[in-house]
Amino acid sequence: MLFGHDKIEFLHLPTPLEHLKNVSEDLGVSVYCKRDDLTNLGVGGNKLRKLEYFLKDAQDQGATMLITEGGAQTNHGRLTAAVAAKYGMKCAIVTADEYPGEISANLLLDGMMGCPVYFVKDMETGRQAVIDRYTGEGEKVYYVPMGGSNELGILGYAECAIELDGQAREMGIPEATIYTTIGSLGTYLGLLAGLKACDSKLKLRGINVLPYQGSGTSKENLISYMHDYFGRICDFYGDEFVYRKEDFDSFTFDISTDYIHGAYNNAVEEVREVMYYLARKEAIIIDPCYTGKTFEAVVSEAKRGRIKAGEDVIFMHTGGLPGIYTKHHRVELERELMPYMHTDEF
Ligand SMILES: Cc1ncc(COP(=O)(O)O)c(C=O)c1O
Repeated sequence: MLFGHDKIEFLHLPTPLEHLKNVSEDLGVSVYCKRDDLTNLGVGGNKLRKLEYFLKDAQDQGATMLITEGGAQTNHGRLTAAVAAKYGMKCAIVTADEYPGEISANLLLDGMMGCPVYFVKDMETGRQAVIDRYTGEGEKVYYVPMGGSNELGILGYAECAIELDGQAREMGIPEATIYTTIGSLGTYLGLLAGLKACDSKLKLRGINVLPYQGSGTSKENLISYMHDYFGRICDFYGDEFVYRKEDFDSFTFDISTDYIHGAYNNAVEEVREVMYYLARKEAIIIDPCYTGKTFEAVVSEAKRGRIKAGEDVIFMHTGGLPGIYTKHHRVELERELMPYMHTDEF
């Protein structure tokens, strides 16, 4: 029970908090990794913690089907499909992206888990048409918002913050800085609320990986979006919540928009470099869309001295592995990794 709401427990928690010894020695700062990529359904990722709460709400409402939306390669859609499969519910994903011409990465996993994906021309009308179709067939539809980021969706990461605070204290790093990805904001705002709920000394740095409100990549743009979301959360939970709306003005958010590289889910050489770096140092695979950009922040800020020698950093691994198999990333990875293939030497 958190802020007055319950969940259906299907995750094997806590996820590990690991010290990255090789990376730490190399960078000269202590880097830890919170392995939320290892959450246990549908190849894992951060959205599962949110979905424990959505599933409870859906079951309470007697839902037989989950419908959600996102980009064609939505990790959140794939994990919604995973939860639906596990709990005997129907699921559908709606996307306004074009069919990419191949069933790869998340799309492949969606299909494997029996979840149809609707490529619609317009999200508003397309989403409604899909909901109407299934409702007409007798399903009781529960709509999960994009990224699982609404008022309820922050609960998973509020809980994660409390879990992480306990682990960090046990490991002797109670004042570490968490580096987490900012996408649709639910993870970041959830962590912010959870840290407050347990009076944690952990610090939080958010790395924004996509332009907000059209093409804006400025911090101001992100903060205004965050302000609206925060206000809705405060209204929703009322006295159960740890913050009041007015608190927003006193926050000094530690967030960065420096690692967006101009667009969402674009192929970026610097991001692939840190993906190789982490894979080669720690055998941990990160993705090109979310965690790669956030880990780039960790590496680059350690190298530039923004993270000081002796400081402790917790890199939040939020999953996203299937992203490496999407075509525009895969072609770049294959090109760069071709030298590792020895085809005619022996
Ligand atoms: C792998 C991965 N990491 C991080 C995020 C960002 O989380 P949030 O949308 O809660 O900000 C997402 C969102 O889709 C994701 O798929």
